[in-house]
Amino acid sequence: MSIDNTGPRVDRRAALAGAGVAATALTLAACSSYGGTETTPAAPEDASGQPRELAKTGDIPVGGGIITGDTVITQPTEGVYQGFSSTCTHLGCKVNEIVDGLIKCPCHKSDFRLDGTVDSGPAPRPLDNRSIRVDGDRILSS
Ligand code: FES
Repeated sequence: MSIDNTGPRVDRRAALAGAGVAATALTLAACSSYGGTETTPAAPEDASGQPRELAKTGDIPVGGGIITGDTVITQPTEGVYQGFSSTCTHLGCKVNEIVDGLIKCPCHKSDFRLDGTVDSGPAPRPLDNRSIRVDGDRILSS
């Protein structure tokens, strides 16, 4: 019996490197399909050019917050409201809940505090600020 050594050869190191590239590509594809990667900021105005109402102040729990559209609104202490993009700064998934004072990203378990800073997980930086303002009992984009 003879062995044919004339065909293309792939050594073990090259095969492992190729497998790593493929695995990375699959991971990135999975992440980008989980919640998307939005880069467009919310329109600050409605169709008539007026600031967009995002919520009522009474909708935002003290020591918590809500996620409305692509905006996170928190109320860390009574009467102090903060706005953030809902796009996670790790790989762009959407944060999807606020539990026990933490804004949570479902993709790789980054948690953000109510001031947008990173509490835990792989996110490299705080959530992006989103400009909001309070007008009476309304929270508006600005
Ligand atoms: S996208 Fe990875 S933790 Fe949010």
